[in-house]
Amino acid sequence: MSKTRQNLEQAIEGEAQAYVRYLAFSEKAGEEGHPGVARLFRAAAQSEWIHAKSHQRALATDSDILDSLSSADKAAAAVQTLRSEGKVGETAENLASAVEGETYEFKKMYPPMIADAVTEKEMAARHSLEYAMSIEMVHAKLFKKALQDPSAVAASSYHVCPVCGHTAAEKAPRKCPYCGVDASKFIEVV
Ligand SMILES: [Fe+2]
Ligand SMILES: [Fe+2]
Repeated sequence: MSKTRQNLEQAIEGEAQAYVRYLAFSEKAGEEGHPGVARLFRAAAQSEWIHAKSHQRALATDSDILDSLSSADKAAAAVQTLRSEGKVGETAENLASAVEGETYEFKKMYPPMIADAVTEKEMAARHSLEYAMSIEMVHAKLFKKALQDPSAVAASSYHVCPVCGHTAAEKAPRKCPYCGVDASKFIEVV
């Protein structure tokens, strides 16, 4: 198996885990009275799912992990498992953990994977990995801001790019600054 295929499988697993974690963190933030943070985690979860699906398309095979999360019921069950295992802290801890996870992905995980895809001339994989890396940077910034004051996260909606997962507060950009998709295609998360 090529290095790129191994990398894509690892990245799908990481994105799927982030998806479940953020859904769980969203639920917890809602319970703790931070609806803005809950919304941000919901939007980021949607974005991680887009990354996972995009990596899967680049890999061009089915993924058991994604199949196991492919409906709202299955995702809710995975969230409950995570919570029963005690892996969901308080909102401030969850935000700090999210900043750490995103930073690891854009600094340490994705760059060597992109380098491998370039070496192996795997263009679809390269684009998918590059989009994910860029957007993890966006997420890290959003989470850092929320960590400074969870009660001050006031966006009434987020808008997620269906191609690269770009996550914008309040309003979709006219065109996605990362992949060029039109505002009308963005997914609204309220
Ligand atoms: Fe992310
Ligand atoms: Fe995009």
